[in-house]
Amino acid sequence: MKIAFFDSGIGGLSVLNEALKRFSGVEFLYFADTDNVPYGTKDKEEIKNLSAYAIEFLISQGAQAVVMACNTATSAAVTYLREKFSIPIVGMEPAVKLAFDKFPERPTLLIATELTIKGEKLRLLVERLGNKTLALPLPRLVEFAQKGEFQSATVSEYLRKELSKFNLGEISSVVLGCTHFNYFKDTLRKILPPNAAMIDGIDGTLKHLTDILGRSRFSDTPNSVRYFNSCTEADPSEVKIFESYLKRLEKMSRID
Ligand code: DGL
Repeated sequence: MKIAFFDSGIGGLSVLNEALKRFSGVEFLYFADTDNVPYGTKDKEEIKNLSAYAIEFLISQGAQAVVMACNTATSAAVTYLREKFSIPIVGMEPAVKLAFDKFPERPTLLIATELTIKGEKLRLLVERLGNKTLALPLPRLVEFAQKGEFQSATVSEYLRKELSKFNLGEISSVVLGCTHFNYFKDTLRKILPPNAAMIDGIDGTLKHLTDILGRSRFSDTPNSVRYFNSCTEADPSEVKIFESYLKRLEKMSRID
């Protein structure tokens, strides 16, 4: 079984990292659209084109299903991509429904890219839930993540300043609606009040993948991963960089 994970950059590794624990016998292809990151500040049409190009490439590499490990690309393009391609495409949406189910009484704060926040998909979801979802775009976190800067004073200062626009004591939770933001969980934990939960959409996305593919199609052999920087396969030194991000995520999930 060959499953592709697609993101604008390194954010989707946070989803791949969990997938590596849950599945076996899978040949994963990880596509980071390094030539075009960030997506969150682009327009919808451009993201539709970039995602379609990436998926076409991944299918040419044998992908039998694609996980869009990117909330922004899902918001902008998943409907279009599902019409265009016949293989299963699993999208990723900010877990505001999960936040609402857990904490129906108090507002939640969604942090995501500008494009996800403005998107029709999110508007419809929030309307359906009817709870108070506050939203904050954090575009610089994508830049910081791509530079491998997760815990510097500049990152903390940026987060403190942006989050101070809200009364954090009132919110139940922060929804991490951009996969790049998963790298900042420990930095965020230091800034948020202890009773504000952090919620990401990783589990929901992987459950969806399992539902679509069915357990029976996986074997007991080890997983493998091939990494791509846009349409170019990563060389050994670039593979090391991808793997170092996976290690960082591992360390972090223990912190949380
Ligand atoms: N990782 C992406 C997401 O989940 C987008 C980051 C970006 O390229 O702006 O939304």
